[in-house]
Amino acid sequence: MEQTQERKKRIFSGIQPSGELTLGSYLGAIRNWVLLQDTYECLYCIVDMHAITVRQDPALLRRRSVAQLAQYVACGLDPQKNIMFIQSHVPQHAELSWILGCYTQFGELSRMTQFKAKSQQHADNITAGLFTYPVLMAADILLYQADLVPVGEDQRQHVELCRDIGQRFNSVYSDTFVLPEAFIPKMGARVMSLGDPTSKMSKSDPDGCVFLMDKPEDIMRKFKRAVTDCEAAVKFDRENKPGISNLLTIYCAATGKTVEEAQTAFEGQGYGIFKPAVGEAVVELLRPIQEEANHLMSDKAYLEGIYKEGAERARYMANKTLTKVQRKIGFVAR
Ligand code: TRP
Repeated sequence: MEQTQERKKRIFSGIQPSGELTLGSYLGAIRNWVLLQDTYECLYCIVDMHAITVRQDPALLRRRSVAQLAQYVACGLDPQKNIMFIQSHVPQHAELSWILGCYTQFGELSRMTQFKAKSQQHADNITAGLFTYPVLMAADILLYQADLVPVGEDQRQHVELCRDIGQRFNSVYSDTFVLPEAFIPKMGARVMSLGDPTSKMSKSDPDGCVFLMDKPEDIMRKFKRAVTDCEAAVKFDRENKPGISNLLTIYCAATGKTVEEAQTAFEGQGYGIFKPAVGEAVVELLRPIQEEANHLMSDKAYLEGIYKEGAERARYMANKTLTKVQRKIGFVAR
């Protein structure tokens, strides 16, 4: 009884519906989130408002927002255990974001490395939204009093800024927000590009990247073409054999075998055998997920039920925080 009184730690993460999920994000992150769902109270938000900081095709954005939800559920995230919703369905995000923007310095936002990079990539369209993107992200997190934010290394700076903004608000108006921490679980596999095994697998490099929903023949083709080395020895050595080490990492993550077992299994065999074997292991790993995702996509009413209920629960939680904030800063109660 006593135990249930204790609040479970809360996790919040945002997922951009701007691209396809990759094998790297599945093995490195999503698969592990499934292991968190009993220990933590988890919220997963499809951040369509973040996505429009760069131009999106409307039909594609709409389709991907729902497809991504289907894929997360297919990966094992249980909609009964996790709150899954779409950001624009919870207007409190935009409202808190405006307020927090008034507690954020121009200089702080100018220093964000992602802003600097993206404003170079999209030099013809550097919008105010792109600039204030981290404020919206801070609002996402602070609204739910999240303790932990699972993100990649590239988002650490944004989580730090979120803490700074929250802390600033707390010190002016008394404790209001839980200050979150970036949560980079150690257990995920770090999957590198198949074309350049020294850089992370990224959706912006379609040839080196395997997508969760890739067809089996595309997966096989990508693995057969994977960059290796000229030794012909299946041995793990990140430093000198980054390509083979990456393929071993993927193979082991897909099959549950240890590196030693895999090395023994492929001893004396060339890469012509090893590479397709990795491809097949990935095809088999993804097959049931793809089947489930496709099945869910054919049941729009079921998906709609998930995101509508998720938004309802999220709005209830978010509103508690927003009301407190509005009262503290001197807005008249509605
Ligand atoms: N900026 C994150 C990304 O690009 C997505 C995101 C938006 C997010 N809001 C968030 C991540 C809140 C964690 C928490 O990956």
